[in-house]
Parts: sequence; structure tokens; C-alpha cells
Amino acid sequence: MSINYQDRIPNNVDLGSNRTLQRALEHWQPEFLNWWQELGPRDFQVADVYLRTATSVDAKGWATYGYVRMPDYRWGIFLAGRDPERRIGFGDSYGQEVWQQIPGEYRATLRRLIVTQGDTEPASVEQQRMLGHIAPSLYDMRNLFQVNVEEGRHLWAMVYLLHAYFGRDGREEAEELLERHSGDADKPRILGTFNEPIRDWLSFFMFTYFTDRDGKFQLKSLAESSFDPLARTCSFMLTEEAHHMFVGDTGINRVVRRTLEVMKELGTEDPAAVRNAGAIDLPTVQKYLNFWFSSSLDLFGSETSSNAASYFANGLKGRPDESRYEDHIATDQAYVLEVPDGNGGFKTEEIPMRNAMNDVTRGSYVKDCDMGVTRWNRVIEKAGYSFRLSLPSTRFRRNIGSWAGVPTDPTGKPITQDEFNAQIGNWLPSDSDRAYIMSLMHGVHEQGKMAAWIAPPDRGINNNPVDYEYVKMH
Ligand SMILES: [Fe+2]
Ligand SMILES: [Fe+2]
Repeated sequence: MSINYQDRIPNNVDLGSNRTLQRALEHWQPEFLNWWQELGPRDFQVADVYLRTATSVDAKGWATYGYVRMPDYRWGIFLAGRDPERRIGFGDSYGQEVWQQIPGEYRATLRRLIVTQGDTEPASVEQQRMLGHIAPSLYDMRNLFQVNVEEGRHLWAMVYLLHAYFGRDGREEAEELLERHSGDADKPRILGTFNEPIRDWLSFFMFTYFTDRDGKFQLKSLAESSFDPLARTCSFMLTEEAHHMFVGDTGINRVVRRTLEVMKELGTEDPAAVRNAGAIDLPTVQKYLNFWFSSSLDLFGSETSSNAASYFANGLKGRPDESRYEDHIATDQAYVLEVPDGNGGFKTEEIPMRNAMNDVTRGSYVKDCDMGVTRWNRVIEKAGYSFRLSLPSTRFRRNIGSWAGVPTDPTGKPITQDEFNAQIGNWLPSDSDRAYIMSLMHGVHEQGKMAAWIAPPDRGINNNPVDYEYVKMH
């Protein structure tokens, strides 16, 4: 039987003429679909969802919209176009030709980098699987499912690389990507944040804003890789990632707008009054922000890292937007870190630039995060209120790196563990905060309706109205 691969697995990697790869993917696909049915969006598998599907990498083809049942979504394999002139952009082999095959000495390391990225994709689908029921509108439900199917496609993207370039151990890794599960006691996902439960939509918006943005920076670093197929895969993934962060950015914006409306109506900023009126008080928004931002910071790894140095030296993983730096070798530069001094204060330390690449990337990430915070604050300011949201210090509540386990306040000032424990309920969501947020989470599945704790979006999807029937339930 001949299968039309373009139809079944849209791709621009000439899948139809690669028998080995076909066989590997044909074997993996049913396992993926089983996983999707079991751990993908719960109970909405037969709903018709207004989704965009990538069918090619050009501007027209990569965003085709229409109603799709999620299990029928055509998870495709797309790499950004190949630039035959592309050269290695950083590290010891700067300026040499990029690799179309993997040099043997980097095989294990590249496999690890691909598996670590790949693991996050299905993890987030698992984390978000219960959110459909409590979606604040059909518009939001559709966005959730769009994010979910695209994370599924990102998994396909990494599995393609494993199957196409790593032979048998690649196929084994591809299977394990479906065997680890978010929050599983025995086989958890690789990275901490991807084992945190996402039970409510405020967490979902924080996750898509802060944690998907970690994804953006990881993908940007991998898009610099000398292994050209990895670079091209990640470049295309970035176009989809932008929508995920849009969902978070506008989601938080809409929560804030609704809260401001309620504050105006009531004539008070009192959090208890805001809650009584069914909105989310701004201090609670700040606590959720503190939680997800600090958790996401750990995803970049330790400030000082010899692994990061060797990834850079060997051209495996660069800095995001490597071209904006002048020195792509980075052997004679130093980087200054602030580390705990062991006496409740901090001191500065100088390390070689290559060892600081995790922190360089984290720094770009923090700046990017701050742009949304500035936008949300502008909305608050315009409404005439003095409350401001802010990113906590990168030292706050860290579990990885030099500040791991060092108690500080949100401004990064070292404090005692007792002080930290006494204040934690003011800085991070407490059980009662979480219970309050959960109490707001009732699904609003009627066309044109919106939950009371969030403002409607400014516009709908693909020029459709906000009250379009984005999900048709059966
Ligand atoms: Fe992703
Ligand atoms: Fe994402």
C-alpha cells in the first residue's frame, strides 16, 4: 500500500523518498496517538476546534485555518529553508561549514540536547490536559488546544531529528519521550518546571508567558547550532512559539484589565473586596508571577557551567541572536557574577565568558520577560492606580545555581530562613490563594460568553470575531 506522506505527515524533508525514516515514524506514530488520547487534552478529542495547521514553511502555507478534531491534526515535520552558504557562527570552529550530519564526537551531547528540548514539549501538554473543562471562553479553549497541538508538533520535530540522525538509540529516546510523564513519581519529565501542575488558567497564562518564553530562548540558542538540521528545525518552531507567548501575554493583560474594571466599579483596591466581586486581586497576580518566573529561571541552568562552555566551544549551542555579539569566539572575555558570600550577603566573582553562557541567555530572557510586565503596568497606570507588577530578582527562590536554597526577599536581598518562612505567603501563592483561584474556574463553554474574572480579548483569531464558535462541542 502506498501512503501519500505529504498528506498524512505534511513535511518538507522529502519523507516520501526516505524509507528508513518512514518506517521509524510509522512505528512511532501510533504510540504518539495513544499518548495523545491518554494524556492529551482530556475529553475534547471529538470536538471540532478552529486550529491552524502548518503545511509548509512559507508565509502562506504555515498557517492554514479550519475545524479539526485534535487527534486528526496533521502533525508535520518542517525545517526552515536551507542556506547553502551558512557557516558556523561561534566557538572554536567559527567560520567553517555547518554540519549536515553529526560529527561522531558530538553525537551523545547533541542527542542529550535534543532529548532535553523534546521532553518539554509533551510535558506541557500533560500539564495542561485538564484545562479545557474550565476554560473561560471558547476563544481561550481554542488557544489552549492550539498550543497543545503545536507542542505535539514540536515533539514530532525533535523525534524527526532523533529518527533521522541517531539511528537506534535515537529511536529508543523517541519512545522514552512518551514514557516519562509530567509529575510522575517514577518517571518524571527531565526539567523541574515541567513537573509542576497547571491546575488553573492564571497558572496557564503565567506558564505560557514565562515558561514558553524559556522555550523561545532555548530554541534561539539551538537555532545557532552548527548542526544545520537542528538549527533549521528550531528556527521554524520559533514561529509557533510566538503564539504561545501571545496567549500568556494577552491572558495576563486581560486578567489585569478585568481586575481594574472591578476596582473602579467598587471604588477600592482592597483585595478582599476585589475577590468578593469575583475578580483576581493584583497582589495575587504578582504571587503567581513570582512562582512561575522563578521556576522558569532554573531552566537555564547554573550560572557557572563547564557544559555550557563546551557546548559553545564545540558550536553545539550558541547564544540567542549570536549575530548581535561582536566576538563569537569569547575566549578572552570575563563575566562578572554576584554570588552568595556565605555570610548572608553577596560578593562578585569573575568567570570566563564561555562558562557564563547560561547566565548570558538567562539575562536576555529576563529582559524579554520585563517587556510584558511594562505593558501590563501601563494598563494599571492608565487606569489611575499606583500598584505595579514586577519581576522578582533572579536570586529569589532559586533551586539551581549559586543562589539555590539561599533565602532572599523578592528584591534579592539575602534574609534568614525564618524571615523567608514568615513571608512566603505574601510572595508565593498560598493554599488559600490557590483555593480562591480554583473557585473561579468554571468552564464557560457558551458561544460569545466570557468568565467574569477576565476581560474579553481585543480581537478574535484569523480575523474572526471574538464570539466566533471556536470550538464545536459534540
Ligand atoms: Fe514547544
Ligand atoms: Fe510552546
